[in-house]
Parts: sequence; C-alpha cells; structure tokens
Amino acid sequence: MKITDTSDLWWKNAVVYCLDVETYLDWNGDGVGDFVGLANRIDYLAELGVTCLWLMPFYPTPDRDDGYDILDFYGVDPRLGHFGDLVEVIRIARDRGIRVIADLVINHTSDRHPWFRAARSSRDSPYRDYYVWRDEPLDDGEPVFPDQESSNWELDEKTGQYYQHVFYKHQPDLNITNPLVRDEIAKIMGFWLQLGLSGFRVDAVPFLLDESGVVGGSELLPDPHAYLRSLRSFLGRRSGDGVLLGEVNLERAEQEQFFGGAEGDELTMQFDFISMQNLYLSLARQDAGPLVEALLSRPVGSPDSQWANFVRNHDELTLDKLSDAEREEVFAAFGPEERMQVYGRGLVRRLPPMLDGDPRRIRLVYSLLFSMPGTPVLFYGEEIGMGENLDAEGRMAVRTPMQWTSGPNGGFSTARPSRLRNALVSGGYGPEHVNVETQRRDPDSLYSFIRMLVQHYRNAPELGWGEFTVLEGTPSSVLAHTLSWDGRTVLLVHNFSATPVDVPLALDRELAGCRVNRLLGAEAGRQPFADPLSLDDAGRTTVPLEGYGFEWLRVIAPGDELQY
Ligand code: NOJ
Repeated sequence: MKITDTSDLWWKNAVVYCLDVETYLDWNGDGVGDFVGLANRIDYLAELGVTCLWLMPFYPTPDRDDGYDILDFYGVDPRLGHFGDLVEVIRIARDRGIRVIADLVINHTSDRHPWFRAARSSRDSPYRDYYVWRDEPLDDGEPVFPDQESSNWELDEKTGQYYQHVFYKHQPDLNITNPLVRDEIAKIMGFWLQLGLSGFRVDAVPFLLDESGVVGGSELLPDPHAYLRSLRSFLGRRSGDGVLLGEVNLERAEQEQFFGGAEGDELTMQFDFISMQNLYLSLARQDAGPLVEALLSRPVGSPDSQWANFVRNHDELTLDKLSDAEREEVFAAFGPEERMQVYGRGLVRRLPPMLDGDPRRIRLVYSLLFSMPGTPVLFYGEEIGMGENLDAEGRMAVRTPMQWTSGPNGGFSTARPSRLRNALVSGGYGPEHVNVETQRRDPDSLYSFIRMLVQHYRNAPELGWGEFTVLEGTPSSVLAHTLSWDGRTVLLVHNFSATPVDVPLALDRELAGCRVNRLLGAEAGRQPFADPLSLDDAGRTTVPLEGYGFEWLRVIAPGDELQY
C-alpha cells in the first residue's frame, strides 16, 4: 500500500466532523457551549474515528448570522472561551490524531467590523475600497436570503452610495480587487495556520471571486481564479498539510474550474452539492438513477483533489440544482409542510425524521455516505440520529444543542433551559430518546453502526482513493459500484427500494476467478459469507439484497490472504 501517499494527502480518506462550539457542550454552565466543553469531548470524537474536525465560526461576532458575521478575524468570541482554550483544543485533537480546520469567511464582514465602520464614515476613508460601492445599485439577481432581503445592494445614507452584500445587508462584501484586502486575507490565513489549523472550510467561494459588482473590477482583477490559485500556493508555503475545503454550489463545469482542473491548484476539496441533492431525489423515487448520474457527472480533475460527500450541513438542505418538478418530488416525500421548507429551495429538516425514523433507510444513507467515492463529512449529531426543532427560526432548526444524555438539557448544559440560545429538540427525537450515553452502550445503535462504518472506511483506502466504476445491468433501484486502487477492489451495492432484489453483478473480466467476501461484519448484523462468492469466467456473480439493503464487499484475488 502507498503508505506515504495516504498520510501526506490525508484529506483523501479523512473523516470530517463539523460542529459549532456554541452548541456542542457547555462546560461552565452559562448556557453557551465552549471550547473547554469541546476539549472534554475530543476523546469522544477520536472514539468515533473522526480524523478532521471542522469548527464553524468561533470569532467575535454580533451573531446575526450564527457567527458568519465576523467582527474580528483574529479573535475568539468571549462567550466560547479564549485563545488558551482554543489552543488546548487544537493540541488535544492533534494528540488524538485529529486535524482541525475552521471556517474562513472572507467574502464579507459584519457591518460592525472596524473596517466597515471606517469605510462608511467617509468616501475618503482609507478603508472605503475594502468594500464594494456604487452610485446606483445593480439589478444583479435574486438575493441569497430572499425572505429577508430584496436586493444585493444597500444605500449608505451618510455617504450616499450603495454597498454590495450578497448575503444579509449586515454583511457587506469585501472587495478582493483591492490588493490591501488580499493582503489582509493572507495575513488572516497565516495567523490561523501558525496557531495550528490544518486549513479551512472556505465560505461562499464563488461569491468571493465574483467581482462583477466592483466598478472596473474585471480590469483590476482580470482572472479571479488566479487569485484562488495564489491563496492555495500561499497555504502550501505556510503549511505542508493545509487544505482548502470550498463551498461551491455550482454546476459541474464551474466546479471543475474551482479545483483548478487537471492542475488541481485551486481548492483541495469541494462539497458535492449535486450528488447530495440527487441522493434525496433517489431516496424519494426509490431509484438509484439520479444519484448515479450525479456521481458520473463529476469532472475528472487532479488525483490529489477530492470530493467531500455529505448528507446534511448546517444550512438549509438546498435542492436548488434540481428541476422545479424534481424539487417538488423531494418536498412531497420529505418536507410537505410549509414550515419544513425555506427560501423556496430547501428543507430545514434532518435526515431521520425525513425518513420517518426507518432504521433501514437511515443506515442505507450512511452506508452510502461512507462508500461513495470521496471523503465523508458528518454534521454533529448525525452519528446518533438527531432530529430538528421546527419551532426554531429557519436554518436554526438543525442547530440545536448536542444531545449527550437523557438528563436535563440533554447533558449539553447545566443552565436553566430558558438561558439556552437554541432550544433542544423535543418529542420523539428529544434527548430522552436520542442521546450519546445510551447509544454508546448499545451495539445495535446508530452510533455503533456509524462507528463501524468509519472503521471500515479507514481500513479500505480504495473508498477515498479508488477509481470509480458503476456496474451496468443492475435493477434501477440499485447502485452497484467498484472502487479500485493499488491493485485492490471493493464492491459496494445499495438498494434504494423496499423490495428485496437479487443483484446480478458484472465486474471487470480481469477479476474472473476472484472471490468476493463481506467487509461489513457482525457489527452490521451479518457475518462474512461462510463460503465467499466466486466470480465466474466473465467476472460475474449475484448478490441478494433485502429491501433498503446494502453490502460492502472485497474482491479477493487468488492467493490473497488479506480478506478485509
Ligand atoms: C454560507 C454559510 O454556510 C451560511 O451559513 C452563511 O449564512 C453564508 N455563507 C454567509 O456567510
């Protein structure tokens, strides 16, 4: 095995876990999660098998966009602790083999950031050009948050010009055509790398690079992708293991560009928004087709680049890349009520309630998350099957406190419930029914299942590194694929339908004479086959699947003793 590659390009088979310190564990009982609480849960993350922790924004903030509105890029919000606490978290995580990355939010600042306060004090301020100003607003499309904003431009009364804000009006956009802003961004990145971060989840990358709002923008910065390349090379100079994991919810051709094509010199990783959306369409239709098509449409880039797979993140579950009719199908299946939908394009629910708590389907989805080509990203609480709080405002529905125990506040905090900023989930998905303490002791729990998937994912580097092939000739409800790397192959088979099915599998002819055995074992309620299946002269076999069933199988060459 190419040991050197797998450790240097660690992101190719990482297990990423995203959390917000504020909602993870409150150690000092003030109702707000903190870094000391997180430090005390690093061993929990290590036990789960996490290898990369993604911290959502923890910087000083007025908190009008859950921390994505930053007041000071060089600080820690005092509600969460101080620098010493953060450094302990990074150190303890490292010690347990977990790298830490954090959100890099450089498309905009809070309107209370000192740069913007200075910028709006006068047209002559040295900070004026840190932001994007126009005498007249552009008519440049639908705002990202149409429930609160009607334009991407806001008049600044005092100076009589409009500033650009593609998100909320309290988040003025930074102007990256200004070399001073680019210097500031480099300094911010350098600062956090020096403190021990292993890179960043880069917020809103396409918006960051879009300088069409800047007067003369295309002359000032003719090639915004060259700027992204320069950020990547700066990162590489400062940190040998740093990654840029970018949020790029665009069509495939544009995503290819954000990787830097075959050169792979822009983003290291990108979230696969398109496969995520089509996964839900496949689930709604009980038909693997949409997901298969989405996976096959991934551009082939540099072998060092990587897709990040996810089922849920902290935002709305966006369905914006589906057609209107497809989106309606997903809404009808998984979020028929208006309060479950947001911005006309997404859902505010978590997976288990959308699947009516059906353990077969929930496990099918997580089996896919860990066996589709790429790197899996978990959003905190997914490992125990947390639900959402539909009484919370919009996207806050899925940002409820982590459920550690069945006790008061789900073990998140000892504060009075009225002091918690985000209320806990109640009802069937509340902490009495869904919590870490109970599930850790139960070998049949979702937690134990996901932990087992993590172990197998880490033991089978083909899943992160392998060449992807979809097997043809299977029933439409089934996704059967192989991932091959370094001379070895794993075979993954998933049935989206409730109906059991015998799946004919036609592997590469070159594999004729090999045997096939189960990778997932007793932990998934099954045993290795007493007699491994044999591939016939044409490389074929048949695998039976239950309704919503799945198998992870390893192809064993004659004489290959290693069967896992
Ligand atoms: C994308 C983040 O994921 C989202 O939560 C935030 O509101 C916007 N960027 C603005 O920063």
